[in-house]
This record gives sequence, C-alpha cells and structure tokens, in this order.
Amino acid sequence: MHFDRTMREHAHALVDRLFDHVENIESRPVVDWKSAPELRDLIRDTSDPVKALLDHSIQLHHPSYMGHQVCPPFPSAILGDLIISTLNQSTAVWEMSPVGTVIEQEMVRWLATLAGYPAESLGTAVSGGSAANLTGLLAARARWRARGGDGGAVILASADTHYSVARAASIMGVEHVVKIETDHRHQMNLEALERALRDHGASVLAVVATSGSTATGAFDDLLRARELAKDTWLHVDAAHGASVLLSERLKHLVRGLDQADSFSWDPHKMLWMPLSLGAILVRDGQWLRRAFEADAPYLFHAEREPDNIGAVTIQCSKRADAIKLWLTLKLFGTEPFRDALEKVSDITRYLHDRVVESSDFEAMHEPQFNIYCFRYRGSDDENLALREKLIRSGDAWITSTVLKGRRVLRVTMINPRTEKRHVDEMLASLRRLAR
Ligand SMILES: Cc1ncc(COP(=O)(O)O)c(C=O)c1O
Repeated sequence: MHFDRTMREHAHALVDRLFDHVENIESRPVVDWKSAPELRDLIRDTSDPVKALLDHSIQLHHPSYMGHQVCPPFPSAILGDLIISTLNQSTAVWEMSPVGTVIEQEMVRWLATLAGYPAESLGTAVSGGSAANLTGLLAARARWRARGGDGGAVILASADTHYSVARAASIMGVEHVVKIETDHRHQMNLEALERALRDHGASVLAVVATSGSTATGAFDDLLRARELAKDTWLHVDAAHGASVLLSERLKHLVRGLDQADSFSWDPHKMLWMPLSLGAILVRDGQWLRRAFEADAPYLFHAEREPDNIGAVTIQCSKRADAIKLWLTLKLFGTEPFRDALEKVSDITRYLHDRVVESSDFEAMHEPQFNIYCFRYRGSDDENLALREKLIRSGDAWITSTVLKGRRVLRVTMINPRTEKRHVDEMLASLRRLAR
C-alpha cells in the first residue's frame, strides 16, 4: 500500500463521489431501511464497498434528517479530518506533536475565552460529552478531597441529566447521584436543588446543571444554580448548548456559564465537526491537573510539563481532533457557525408554531433552541409506532423519548439545510402514516 499514482486517482475519484453524494442527497430517502441480516449479507457480498456505505447510511446530510444530536459536518472540517488522519499526530505528548499540541491549546483557549473564563482556566479536547463530564467530575473530586471530603460523596443532578453523569459517578465509585426534579419547562427545579443542598451539606462533591438537555434542549438557570451552590463545585453539561455562545441572539441561554467551575462543550454537536471532538474546560486549571497527577517519567518530562496534554487527560494515544475546528476557523471565521446556529433555532420555532396551530399535534414545551418534543394526539403506543413507520418510510428521520411519563416525538434540528418545506413534509408524512 503506497502513496502512489493509483491511490491518488482513487482519492480524487472518492472526493468527487462524496461531494456528488451530498449535493444530490435529496434524491435519496433519509434511510433505505434494511434489517441487520439484510445489511450483513449486503456488506459481505458487495463488490463496491463505497457504494454500499453511501446507499445504506443514515443520511445525516439530508435536510429531512431531524434526529439525534449528530451533525452533518461542515466540509472544511471533513477535509480537516483527512489532514488529521494523514499526519496522525498524537497530541498527548508534546514531543510527538508539537504543532498539534499548540493547536489544541489554542482551540481550548478560544473556547474558554468565548465562555468568559479567566487566564488560569485549563481544558483539553476529549472524545465527547461523556468523557468531558467524567473529566469535569474528576476535577471536582480533586478539589472536594483537598478540602477534606472523604467517602460518601453525593452528586446532585437534574432528572433530565444525560446518562453519562451517572456513568461517570459509577466509574468514580460515587454511589449517590441524587436526581433533582425538573419543572414544567424541563429545567432543574431550583427549590428542589436548594433542599438537596441543605440535606446533603458537605457530602456534595458537585452540582451538575445542563445547558441544552438531551430530551428537550432545556437550559438550566445557571446564575441561580451558581448562587445556590455557593462554593460547591458547579459543573455544567453544556455539551449541546455551549455553542450558542457564537450567536449574539442566542447566547443569553448560557448566561452564567462563566461562573461554573467546569463545563463540557461538544464541537461535534452544534459546531458541525465530524465525530469526534469534545472539550472540557475547568475554571481553575489546577484542579484538572490535580485530577490526573500521574507518574509516567518516560512520557512527561517535568521541564516541559505544561505542554504535555497527557498530564490532564485520560487518553494516551490522542487524535489531533482540534485541527478540524482550527482549520474551519482559519479558513472561514465564525460566521458559518453563527448562521447555522440561528437557522436551526429558527426552523425549530417554525415547527413549534405549526404544531401549536394544528388540531392533531400537541406541543410538549416551547423550544429554547433546536431540540423539541411534541406528540400526535393519540396513545403512547401510537406515537411510538408512528415514529417507527416514519423512519422506515425514508421520508424523514426523527426520534422518540419518554417525557414525564408520556411517549413523545422528538426532533433535533441539526441540519442548516432544513427548510420550512421539509418541516411541512415531515408533518404531512406523520399525518399520512397515522391514518
Ligand atoms: C447533554 C448531553 N451531554 C452529554 C452527551 C454525551 O456526549 P457524547 O455522545 O459526545 O459522549 C450528550 C449526547 O447526546 C448530551 O446530549
């Protein structure tokens, strides 16, 4: 296998094929539904593996894809991924990736500055929100222990917190994650938080708030959460929502984020980076360092320690994923992010308005950003079946969840190419399939 003329021709042809695929995506169904055995036969028997992949993927670039929080990536970032794979720099150790290290540090500083974090803050790129939440909570534990915390730690988190927080607690051996109920807007109920803080006192290792919850895209009141938590560690899972900082119109949603002790931010969600690129930021960087104090003299040389990202992350081999964000910013600035964020927010509002004015659909909440739940006026089973029928039809791709005990339809508007007509068509398909 060589970088030779044949492979170059192969690469050029592949790039053309990928561009054709995305440019003509609306001529395809959002998914050409197949069962697992059918897919297994198909990938075993195919003589054109690229075609098999193009034909049978869930088409995230399709404007009628309104499903999970996985984005149709920006092309500049896809090209960035190609560079990352070609150069294959491992950024945990300075001497293995000086330029990759500096770019990651620059990107982390850029994210921290946008959030209003001070110079002593520190962060690192991670694989995504789950790793970011674990890392933030490890930093919280480092400070909790330094203040005398020992055994019986408690984490307070809203009932709608992403499951990765409970999983992080379990990995850390923290047995008690107290779920704080949510209010009618699906935000953490602050009176309940106040009571829990009183009940658990110094055992509380961290309060976890969410900016952009998975189920409804709700943004907790961070200013009030900060006030109530006092000097208890406040971690914000802003994996989904922190990107609103790039829009003057939307950034009010994360007011107070600068006062959190740590927060998660996934550029692979609402900054349209291909999987994967997440980030954890810690306001007082010493706690991130203390969380990972490790003895690996063959890798981390004291004289260059500040530049060894490996000193503040779980990973050792570490893909230089920050390069794709850096490249996009270098080539195109911040405008494409702002435009895309505002577009998906507006189209979510458009869907809400259509639902509210209809007689056959019911809104479950007002959308704050780009995640939205509604339901067809029928039983839970009908709603579940309707979602299944819709995705198998290939007309559109949405998800479903259970909200305060009721089965609902859920969308994440994550494709900036989704227009009003795609929303209208999705609702029309649901109506047709419900009959
Ligand atoms: C609010 C929130 N936090 C964390 C995560 C986990 O992120 P990842 O899938 O990148 O690990 C998600 C994923 O959907 C999420 O919605």
